[in-house]
Amino acid sequence: MNNWNFIDEDGTFTLSNPQLVKDLYFPLVNQAGMMSSVTPSLHGDIKTGQNSFLTIPVSVEDLHNSRAGRNFWVYTDSYGPWSVAGASSQQYSEMFNPSKADHLSVEAGLLWHKLTCINLSAGLKAETINFIPTNTDQVELIQVTVTNIGERTVEITPTAAVPIYGRSADNLRDHRHVTSLLHRIRTERYSVLVKPSMSFDERGHKLNTISYTVVGVEEGNVPPIGFYPTVDGFIGNGGTLDWPEAVVKNSSDYLPAGSTIAGYEAIGGLRFNTTALGPGESRSYLLVLGVLNDGNDLSQLIERYGTKAQFQHWLSENKSFWQGKISGLIFTTADHRFNGWLKWVSVQPILRRLFGNSFLPYHDYGRGGRGWRDLWQDTLTQLMMEPAGVDELLWNYYAGVRIDGSNATIIGAKPGEFKADRNDIPRVWMDHGAWPWLTTKLYIDQSGDLEFLLREQAYFKDRHIDRCQSHDKGWHDGSGTQLLDQNENIYLGSILEHILVQHLTAFFNVGEHNNIRLEGGDWNDGMDMAPRRGESVAFTALYASNLRQISQVLIRLSDSVMPTVDIAAELILLLDTISEPVNYASSSEKRDRLAEFFSRCRNTITGERVTIEARVLAEDLEEKSSWLFTHLQNNEWIQDGAGIGWFNGYYDEDGNRVEGVEHDHVRMTLTGQVFTMMGGIADDKQISSMVQAANNYLWEESMGGYRLNTDFEEVLPNLGRFSGFAFGHKENGAMFSHMSIMWANALLKRGLVKEGLKVIETIYRHCQNFPISHIYPGIPEYINPEGRGMYPYLTGSASWLLLTMLTEIYGVKGYYGDLVLEPNLSRDVFDEQGEASVSTQFAGRQLQITYSNPERLEFSGYSIHAIKIDGQEIMIDKNKKSVTLSREVIEDLSSDQVHEIEVELRSH
Ligand code: G1P
Repeated sequence: MNNWNFIDEDGTFTLSNPQLVKDLYFPLVNQAGMMSSVTPSLHGDIKTGQNSFLTIPVSVEDLHNSRAGRNFWVYTDSYGPWSVAGASSQQYSEMFNPSKADHLSVEAGLLWHKLTCINLSAGLKAETINFIPTNTDQVELIQVTVTNIGERTVEITPTAAVPIYGRSADNLRDHRHVTSLLHRIRTERYSVLVKPSMSFDERGHKLNTISYTVVGVEEGNVPPIGFYPTVDGFIGNGGTLDWPEAVVKNSSDYLPAGSTIAGYEAIGGLRFNTTALGPGESRSYLLVLGVLNDGNDLSQLIERYGTKAQFQHWLSENKSFWQGKISGLIFTTADHRFNGWLKWVSVQPILRRLFGNSFLPYHDYGRGGRGWRDLWQDTLTQLMMEPAGVDELLWNYYAGVRIDGSNATIIGAKPGEFKADRNDIPRVWMDHGAWPWLTTKLYIDQSGDLEFLLREQAYFKDRHIDRCQSHDKGWHDGSGTQLLDQNENIYLGSILEHILVQHLTAFFNVGEHNNIRLEGGDWNDGMDMAPRRGESVAFTALYASNLRQISQVLIRLSDSVMPTVDIAAELILLLDTISEPVNYASSSEKRDRLAEFFSRCRNTITGERVTIEARVLAEDLEEKSSWLFTHLQNNEWIQDGAGIGWFNGYYDEDGNRVEGVEHDHVRMTLTGQVFTMMGGIADDKQISSMVQAANNYLWEESMGGYRLNTDFEEVLPNLGRFSGFAFGHKENGAMFSHMSIMWANALLKRGLVKEGLKVIETIYRHCQNFPISHIYPGIPEYINPEGRGMYPYLTGSASWLLLTMLTEIYGVKGYYGDLVLEPNLSRDVFDEQGEASVSTQFAGRQLQITYSNPERLEFSGYSIHAIKIDGQEIMIDKNKKSVTLSREVIEDLSSDQVHEIEVELRSH
């Protein structure tokens, strides 16, 4: 099998014979909400949301099961029907016959897709380009160019054939036929237009306002000569979408423009003129696949997209838009392939912002929208790539926090829009409270904006109280989704207070082993069956280190901004060292205190505030944090027979410890190690032992690195559904990229540079090895036991990879607004000139930071010898591993150009 190759510096790659790889797909999207996936046979789907699919929704298995794709047929007398996507039953049947098969190749870039299909017997070549323009239209554009590569003139009869589904994904099983009765289909001069009379979906039965269309035009503004608007009419009796009677018989029983038909499955079947193509001659056809809301004018589509020049214009706009999008963060190393691969990783967090987690073929769950955890992960990248305005986003996101420390789970389309869960499926993921702090800390470090913590924001309110353990009888649909005070005013608390609420409620919400309860799950969504007695030691560790960081930030706040902070009076109960101390060794005392807090904020809170010294508050948090550190150290360190140790990560619903060794059978999770390593809970001796344990029990080179867990060898209904997955898949022991990258981050943070770099290097090597990973450039959610990359594009690991590359490997990080440089680049990333660079934003300036390593030293051997900014050497404390440039130095640089920072590395 071939590998893909980059053909330029922009991430454009080519791949030949893509049709011989199962499940490949490519994303197309714009900020107006048009979302597509396209495969090497032009399969995939096109939609603007859960309830508005232009083409039939597909899961990954449908990519080969279903015959409905974006097809474009060319009929010639000598060959018969030929699909430019290789998607005819005849072409499928010849796929494995080298003398007859089409020669297919894909060329794709940010974010466009070109398929070339050559058939020597037919003497034809077709190039099909798909993309979604980066404007406010909800359209996908396609240009098909057919070329005669034979020696004789041929007559071609082209027919576009894109089935129009035109309804909600819900109707795939629910009322599939009945909803086709709603279809009102019209043929216009250039198009087939479907406007269902009503929509039947989870919102009820409503009058429909959306139209779906396939518009087509031959170059030179020539409209189609006729239309096949229904699937029945197009495929005929006995025909199929990949062997349709209308094409196979080259029939002319098409309808003219101006026809109407209602109540059938629709298709954008557009017959174009028969044209003679001389040898070497080409002809192009443009298609616009669109979703139109009432008020959008169909005729505009042809005006805007009806010519080849317009297609070219929008295509180059598209290319520059996406290159611009990722230009905020570009890594350049000696490895050209790695640089290109990272470009695709850089686009992934943007893709997840636009697609959410539901709209690519592997992501066939959910109904759109975004998850709480993902919201915060994806923002990490935004802080590195386009930080302007991210403070507003973060501030908005905090409006999703409930006063009990849990959060809204239905996230609206607009920042800060959170919805009450009408389906009443209460679930609390115990890790949710910990992620916002990581993103907020990154923001504070990059900006120095400690005042952000004092900005006020509302709390989310719905029927669920006590972390979804009970219902607030006083709340009803009309009560609104913001917490009120006793005077019925919307209660506003500082962002700091929101963060405290998240961490303090977690601290007191412990199980019988005094770790934080697992509730409905943690980061591992599959740990979902131990809600009462389960505990997540793994995330107890993250909360513990967060508490320490928050405490430290509070001291800084006290010194530089405000000595005191105002806190909701109720919260004082949880700041027990200030009010009435709780015995932390007693889980029941902790839970009782939490219950008391809950009892005071069920429906409203008083609205009263207490002013406390930030330093006193910091001390309370530090006390909690160090108690947790000691607790984890004393109780959760486990060892195998050889004395190699690691941290237990979980307790199950029976109150039993999950990890350890029993009869030579080892149970270990990577998650249990990541946050104890990252947050400094593990001491220096323990960290090397943990690496050894991970190497012994979790390392699987053929899967790209460390597994998420060992084989537990049984289904564990007292822990979670993950254990029902076959071992090696997804949350049960795959190489799960997100956790692995966080592991790399943790290793690097603790100075285990070689080990950390190896994790990333192994993942990269695996992903770019297409014959094994079977994915286009980028990082997938996980690697399965066959080595295949699964769930490409939409994964939180992309953000963490970029974060780790920038802050831990290139060592470009903020510290309360100052810029720290502390590289951990290995010798082989420096190019022939001995240089490696990154382009990134800091303090509103675009910086090109170039490290030069003339002696070609390994990271352990160099320190920073000299720094020049725009050619001028600046004074630094020489020969240190790390140098801090004050924010003023960066802010003194103009904001309208890129500034060069050259950092010379020499042996100490
Ligand atoms: C996915 C989810 C993420 C969850 C993880 C593990 O990971 O999006 O929220 O924590 O599974 O269950 P991702 O696809 O982001 O890598």
